[in-house]
Amino acid sequence: APAPPLTFVIFGATGDLTRRLLIPTLINMTRSGLVGDDLHILGIGIETGGVEMLLERFESFLATSGDMQDSARQEAWQRLRKRIAYISGDFTQNAVYEEIAKYLSQAPNANAAFYFAVPPRFFGDIAEKLSANGLVNETIGAFRRIAIEKPFGHDLASARELNARLLSHANESQIYRIDHFLGKETVQNIMTTRFANMMIEALWNNNYIDHVQITAAELVDVGMRGKFYDATGALRDMVPNHLFQLLAMVAMEPPNSFDAESIRNEKGKLLKALRIYSREEAAKNAVRGAYTAGPLDGNNLPAYTETADVSPDSNTETFVGLKLLVDTWRWAGVPFYLRTGKAMKARDTEVVITFRQVPFAQFPRHESRPELPPNRLIIQVQPDEGLDMEISIKSPGLVLKTAPVSLDFRYADRFDIGKQTGYESLFYELFVGDQTLFQRADGIEAGWAAVQPFLDLWAEGGKPDPYAPGSMGPACADELIERDGRTWHRPEDAPAVKKG
Ligand code: BG6
Repeated sequence: APAPPLTFVIFGATGDLTRRLLIPTLINMTRSGLVGDDLHILGIGIETGGVEMLLERFESFLATSGDMQDSARQEAWQRLRKRIAYISGDFTQNAVYEEIAKYLSQAPNANAAFYFAVPPRFFGDIAEKLSANGLVNETIGAFRRIAIEKPFGHDLASARELNARLLSHANESQIYRIDHFLGKETVQNIMTTRFANMMIEALWNNNYIDHVQITAAELVDVGMRGKFYDATGALRDMVPNHLFQLLAMVAMEPPNSFDAESIRNEKGKLLKALRIYSREEAAKNAVRGAYTAGPLDGNNLPAYTETADVSPDSNTETFVGLKLLVDTWRWAGVPFYLRTGKAMKARDTEVVITFRQVPFAQFPRHESRPELPPNRLIIQVQPDEGLDMEISIKSPGLVLKTAPVSLDFRYADRFDIGKQTGYESLFYELFVGDQTLFQRADGIEAGWAAVQPFLDLWAEGGKPDPYAPGSMGPACADELIERDGRTWHRPEDAPAVKKG
């Protein structure tokens, strides 16, 4: 069913995020019928020039993006563009809010969702001004919602402060904190994989699981984002948000129902069970790296510290590796190893569940393979979305020998998901009022609380270890896991699919 009628108000309408992500998403949603012709878009921006200027910007971007070859998309854009309006004004001043109020009071219905496509330092201010102008008051039959991008704070204290500020102007049920990882099909599929499959969930605990690895390796480097990135680093950019959402999906208890509050209760409970490390424990269980100069993907990449808008003596990490513990009955003793970085070997986001060894292996051991390899379940989040289950079978022949094989499922072989931005499901849920795919205040704060010891430790000084572009991070990342007698998953070691 299409979303209810509403006005989607975008602060920062002339910015890059709006044309690169929001408009293509709304086009896809129009095309697939997730929104109808009663969706109205109101852009707010500082530039003058009226709605013609805005449409012209969108269209010149769309023309170069290559997305508009397809006639269904073009047609969707033609329908959508008629329902775009623009107010030029400074969102730090009150006048623009009075104009928004006037627009909304004349709109065919009073529903509105406000989206903040602006630098995070403005989030609190905008919410405050919306509220001061009565724009977040919900009346009977009309909703008002606020959607906020990451970064949500830059540490525990600032996240708490932002939550407190937002919650003084709007109810939790009106606040949609976006983590775009939750828009990914494969991330949402983690719950189905676990809770729709007895043979998986029954083994999902410390009796059977040895450890969990979560990797988000990126091929892209910091590039033009130096200013943002140097003040942020890999830990803040990826861990308390994206990687912890994956971790929560993997490790949470089964919710009693799939409504937003039940799921968010379980995720919050799990994130609150992450062990908060002392300074010594933090030092022992975290490593960081920064890429050096070198060849990457056919180009010569300058070192991170030579990137535009990055301080030459920057201590900011572009790679982080962590060993975390989850203090629950289910996960006691099962380490969670996390790593993420820029300018790495390949784009690869995956969760790897390594099961324990069988209790007793009667199989003769062979020199080439002294131990049975453990079973592994690999949830490939991106690219080449899918699931792989690695098991042992008897290798054909008279001699009893085992061989590892992989049972593979690839989304692309079975479904046609089409070209998506990953925001379609997020916006749809925002419009229909389902908060399942959004973060609640407690979950965000629990995430920051767990990474705060690392932030504190690194604020004392020290430098990240160097790693070569195109590698899988610094040597200390291997040591972090190898000292426990384990190794990082290497996709290239997967059992061969073909003979030989
Ligand atoms: C963003 C980070 O939130 O997520 C980026 O700011 C990162 O640095 C991106 O590249 C990764 O998202 P995806 O969907 O490309 O895996």
